[in-house]
Amino acid sequence: MRVGIATDHGGFGLKEELLAHLRAAGHEVVDFGAHGLNPGDDYPDFVIPLARAVAAGTVERGVAVCGSGVGASVCANKIPGVRAGLVHDHYSARQGVEDDHMNIICMGARTIGPFAAWDLVETFLGAEFSQAERHLRRLGKVASLEPEVISDRRGAGTTPRKT
Ligand code: RB5
Repeated sequence: MRVGIATDHGGFGLKEELLAHLRAAGHEVVDFGAHGLNPGDDYPDFVIPLARAVAAGTVERGVAVCGSGVGASVCANKIPGVRAGLVHDHYSARQGVEDDHMNIICMGARTIGPFAAWDLVETFLGAEFSQAERHLRRLGKVASLEPEVISDRRGAGTTPRKT
């Protein structure tokens, strides 16, 4: 799978570990940074380009890390077409995709360890959206909140609104 990954300084070490795991597992990884440990950097500078790439489909799914994962998830969900979740448990890593079509997983490097984080990423990437009618209906209601896009019936993505 073509996967994007991003972090600020709060998740830099974990991002480097996950990047190595992803490549070893055969994924094509786009690294949106940070490309070095800079305690003064800001998570939106890395997470927003990742989120835009996921929304545009240039990467299929995203992994966003910061200290807690909160800033990354808040930030990513501002981009229409992104369905990001802050996930620190195995159940949600799978069910968030199957039911909610999560396309970016967010994690906090200060709250979970690297082994658990890699398990969550593997689980997230291995899961597929169910296409169940009830979830499509719910996703349609969520997508209707997005001002810049119109949702499609599959709930799978978004289409730019024609002006
Ligand atoms: C950076 O110190 C930290 O605030 C950031 O990584 C993240 O935890 C924000 O949610």
